[in-house]
Amino acid sequence: MAIRKIQTGDAPCLYKVAKPVKVFDEKLGQLLDDMAETMYHADGCGLAGPQVGILRRVVVIDCSEERNELIEAINPEIVYTEGEQGGMEGCLSFPDEQGYVVRPNVAVMRAYNRKGEQFEIRGEGLLARAILHECDHLDGKVYKRLVIPTPEDYKEE
Ligand code: NI
Repeated sequence: MAIRKIQTGDAPCLYKVAKPVKVFDEKLGQLLDDMAETMYHADGCGLAGPQVGILRRVVVIDCSEERNELIEAINPEIVYTEGEQGGMEGCLSFPDEQGYVVRPNVAVMRAYNRKGEQFEIRGEGLLARAILHECDHLDGKVYKRLVIPTPEDYKEE
């Protein structure tokens, strides 16, 4: 395993649409292992291929406090959403920044694991937010485009 360099800010790979994974091989497993290690090392709760300069539809997510509920999702699709939640969001590609983002409160993601088997996972609250945030990365979308002002932003200094 190896820690990969996280692309930040204006890096062009963060704004491109990632291509589907077609071959489920050892190289893909290596990428997933490296992405998980990179995410944990940076203390993030999600990381997408484009964030490590790989324009493939691959994400890793772990929203658990114990950092032991790793989700690996290949070619993920959001197949259902429900409700609404607002909250502060950050991203490993924009360190030390946060913004208020409104997203669905529930999201169901259909994806493949590293063996090429399809699975579905239902996320609520923070996990829904992470799933939606990471899937956005695969379409070249970063959370900062979704940030809306909060009452705090209108307060005079
Ligand atoms: Ni992000």
